[in-house]
Amino acid sequence: MPTKAVQAAINDQIAMELESAHVYLSMAAYFDENNLPGFSHWMRMQYQEELGHAMKLFDFMLDNGGHIVLKALAKPPSQFKGALAVLKETLKHEQKVTGAITQLYALTVPEKDYPAQILLQWFISEQTEEEKTVADIIAQMKMVGDSGSGLLLIDQHLAGRAAAAQQA
Ligand code: FEO
Repeated sequence: MPTKAVQAAINDQIAMELESAHVYLSMAAYFDENNLPGFSHWMRMQYQEELGHAMKLFDFMLDNGGHIVLKALAKPPSQFKGALAVLKETLKHEQKVTGAITQLYALTVPEKDYPAQILLQWFISEQTEEEKTVADIIAQMKMVGDSGSGLLLIDQHLAGRAAAAQQA
């Protein structure tokens, strides 16, 4: 069973993943409202992924005798300043999540919590992937432009995002 400190940190991380889902759902709504269905689709997929991350931690806790404590979620932003600004905010958010996962992993090392470390290694790889994916979109947007036909091109590209497998 994870120590009390690790359990508390995992419960915090579950809240962070659910908050991430909330932020991305709000961004999806913004894109729908602004006639960018591809961006909205991408954010809806991201929302689903974050729910998956939260549930992965949730199930790990329950499978290992931990106690789940759900928390109130912060209100996500509902005003955004354009598609590029949203993607930049997404990257910043993911970098914050990466920092939290890294801290959580560091906490499990002196505790010798090997099962948690195995789970968190998946999250560390996932964060690398998430940051890279968002950084690539930002780079492409900078190439083709954040308005007009360039923006529509990216929108069409993002419409093709498939749901990621949630296997560890
Ligand atoms: Fe679950 Fe995108 O971090």
